[in-house]
Amino acid sequence: MIVLGVESSCDETGLALYDTQRGLLSHALHSQVAMHEEYGGVVPELASRDHIRRAIPLLEETLSRANVAMADIDAIAYTQGPGLAGALLVGSSIACSLALALDKPVLGVHHLEGHLLSPLLASDPPQFPFIALLVSGGHTQLMRVDGVGQYTLLGETLDDAAGEAFDKSAKLLGLGYPGGPAISRLAEFGDPLAYKLPRPMLHSKDFNFSFSGLKTAVLTVVKNHDEKVIANICEQDKANIARGFVDAIVDVLTAKCISVLRHTGLKRLVIAGGVGANAQLRASLNAAASAKKFRVFYPELEFCTDNGAMIAFAGAMRLQINPDAAKRDYSFNV
Ligand code: KG4
Ligand code: ZN
Repeated sequence: MIVLGVESSCDETGLALYDTQRGLLSHALHSQVAMHEEYGGVVPELASRDHIRRAIPLLEETLSRANVAMADIDAIAYTQGPGLAGALLVGSSIACSLALALDKPVLGVHHLEGHLLSPLLASDPPQFPFIALLVSGGHTQLMRVDGVGQYTLLGETLDDAAGEAFDKSAKLLGLGYPGGPAISRLAEFGDPLAYKLPRPMLHSKDFNFSFSGLKTAVLTVVKNHDEKVIANICEQDKANIARGFVDAIVDVLTAKCISVLRHTGLKRLVIAGGVGANAQLRASLNAAASAKKFRVFYPELEFCTDNGAMIAFAGAMRLQINPDAAKRDYSFNV
């Protein structure tokens, strides 16, 4: 069975073809980062219009890379949400129109399920059950995963998501959008002893997170700075603040993963979502894994952030469990 996946929830247009027998056949992606950069964040109206421009050429690219004809597609999966309403509407209307024209069934996929299952696309995928840390721009969750569709939420952020904290702190330091990769790169040059920022909820007995206080701590450091104005903070000091922020957030994420593994007795940890691309987080989790004797699995770097492959894959997994999950009902909702 060949499933076409369509992702358009935010600022990436992603198309992919997944074959339940042969695996991922092809995928194509367009990132709108350059377009939104000058506004310091995603402009929803521009995002929707760009998805419209990109989707069909990306579909053609995906089909030709896989040498698959439109008629060979068995079902179409699209990101149903959560995401920007206009952006989601573009992907869902394209998916449903194609399905109607081809007389194929269609199914809506939860964006987070796409992220959650993306590490299973890797060459050495984890077996169920595992603990998943889902760290994206909008969500931070710890979950127990017993199989496709069998998810138990164990903890989540009470305020900002990890990616949001990265982006907002980067903005306070005058770094561009998206802030996560930028603050992470800058942190590599920072002195770890210069700023010791708070590690919110590090010792709480639950598996929840809170990152808004950390962002406020960055703001306080910036405001208290001698020069008062971020533009005047020297590059080294910016790097020191970035390092203080990254060390704090990575410490909390690592500690909560260790504690949830200890609590459940599971030995497999899966990282998903955009922040899963973070080099410092990966280094910290890898060190914890060898010290505490658990295994940690990541998606391929290109599948950490939004992409069509994870949607095609999640759709295919859903259909394997329940072939009726896709329907010839083209009255989509997002
Ligand atoms: O999963 P994703 O692409 O989109 C959502 O579903 O939200 O995640 C985007 C988030 C952004 O906040 C971005 O700054 C963050 O992931 N991110 C990173 C890195 N790459 C992306 N954060 C830290 N380090 C990175 N290397
Ligand atoms: Zn995402």
